[in-house]
Amino acid sequence: MKPEKDYDLVIVGSGIAGLSFALNVAKAGFRVAIFTKKDKAESNTNYAQGGIAAVTSAGDDLEKHVEDTLEAGDGLCDQTVVREILKEGPDRIKDLVDLGVSFSSLDDGRISLGKEGGHSKRRVLHVKDVTGKAIEEALLSAIAKEGVHLFEHYFAIDLITSKKARKIGVSIDGVDNRVLGLYLYDGVEKEVITISSPVVLLATGGAGQTYLYTTNPSIATGDGIAMASRAGLSSMNLEFIQFHPTTFHSLNGDRFLITEAVRGEGAKLIDGKGNPFLKKYHPLADLAPRDIVARAIDSEMKKSGAPFVRLDTPSMKIDFSDRFPNVNRNCLDRGVDPSKSAVPVVPAAHYSCGGIPTKLDCSTDLIGLYACGEVACTGLHGANRLASNSLLEAVVMAYRGAEAVCSFLKNKRDVKVNLPEWVDGDVTASDERVVLSHNLDELKRTMWDYVGIVRSTKRLERAQTRIRNLGREINEYYWNAKVDLSLLEVRNLVCVSELIVRSALQRKESRGLHYTLDYPERSEIPENIKVKPLLY
Ligand code: FAD
Ligand code: SIN
Repeated sequence: MKPEKDYDLVIVGSGIAGLSFALNVAKAGFRVAIFTKKDKAESNTNYAQGGIAAVTSAGDDLEKHVEDTLEAGDGLCDQTVVREILKEGPDRIKDLVDLGVSFSSLDDGRISLGKEGGHSKRRVLHVKDVTGKAIEEALLSAIAKEGVHLFEHYFAIDLITSKKARKIGVSIDGVDNRVLGLYLYDGVEKEVITISSPVVLLATGGAGQTYLYTTNPSIATGDGIAMASRAGLSSMNLEFIQFHPTTFHSLNGDRFLITEAVRGEGAKLIDGKGNPFLKKYHPLADLAPRDIVARAIDSEMKKSGAPFVRLDTPSMKIDFSDRFPNVNRNCLDRGVDPSKSAVPVVPAAHYSCGGIPTKLDCSTDLIGLYACGEVACTGLHGANRLASNSLLEAVVMAYRGAEAVCSFLKNKRDVKVNLPEWVDGDVTASDERVVLSHNLDELKRTMWDYVGIVRSTKRLERAQTRIRNLGREINEYYWNAKVDLSLLEVRNLVCVSELIVRSALQRKESRGLHYTLDYPERSEIPENIKVKPLLY
């Protein structure tokens, strides 16, 4: 099936946010298409392990979940947003169950609730340690039944806005500050197509691939943030990159996630001598918020010079392979049996707490443009996301956003414009392609070395100089080249990296995930950092 020329709603991305949103809008009878750049299930969602946090047990209540979220967010969460989103959690969990997600249960039939860092209660619903895969599968099957068109191997390049169209002389009288459609690269036919739509949803996920070591799959290249920036939108709080404390340490640089739920079931982080060390850093020890655990590991590794610490799994009082079959298999594949040996772990880039600022209905500052999931910055996570709050945020916000889009579409004034056609370059020189992959290596290394867990102004400025040079080179090539997936991704990675660094340089304090040696204290007045759009 080929895409049509226009839709009521075009969604970019087929993770939990894009699929949930599509389902809710398609149910109202609108024509919805999802475009996704690789295979349909390939997303951060598909790899989520720990689960989805919500208040579902008698011993828990909304206020405790709110308190834990605010505590983890280190004074920067928007309290109204936190309460609104968390309060709708139980209803959205019920929707997932109705779609067929079979959350793990205890022998007596009650839902099994996991615990993760920063949670004062057991409240993480999970499907063993493959929660994301179970949710992704249920949603994919639901949207197919609802008649949503899903197109794989289409890469969204750029939004077409009224402002851009007017600039190149396309007549769009009376239409202001709105999105009109987008350009997509068809990875099979190797051509760019133009689609018109009054509403576009960016559900493109995170940007972990800006770093050398990450838990994120290869799709996580920050495309939505870069596209929004080129369309004239500011980004918010992008300096808050969450480093997951525990990923399997392999010499080849592959970083497989060891879910925090393992610590929730009693595993402790230990140093080279086998001693637990987290108590020195926080009263909650191994279940302290992630920013604190990641910094503690970083500090222990720097002190000892060792390339990793260990997670003491053999001392756990559970059947590891039954509770964590996926982690167990992956450790065995890498030569470690968690029931017999402690697992070598290191932190890696994991989650982007900042993104495109959105309101509580997913709308952005550009009319018709919505953002949902990891690409968005709603105010829920503040300076550090509480574990397992992101899947929750995505389903709740997709539901709210879909309601808003349905009423927008019902009231829409039809805008018929001939969208400007895509103009391609013609350079395919292979020696330039080699340089491109070297540029990417340099970018990821720079972000890892200079924009990591512990920062300083000098390191950030060094990173900025390098990233700007890379940006100039890549851009010059971009405007002459025939586009393809790797070029489009590198261009976006450079753009997002520069936005992260600019945001980090603007924050003159240490808070949550942003720790800088030059401003080690937290300022009294919490402030969101907005970075102006970058036009490449
Ligand atoms: P994704 O699920 O990442 O989906 C993005 C989609 O957009 C993909 O389909 C991608 O191909 C597509 N896309 C991107 N750019 C383009 C483009 N230019 N054109 C077309 N398509 C594009 N969170 C929790 O709450 N609980 C957990 O247990 C948990 N565990 C995690 C474990 C791992 C290993 C990782 C990496 C993350 C985990 N997270 C967890 C975080 C959570 O999984 C993500 O934040 C969430 O899944 C993001 O969903 P999303 O729909 O916003 O984006
Ligand atoms: C994990 O399972 O440790 C990841 C949970 C999350 O990122 O929310």
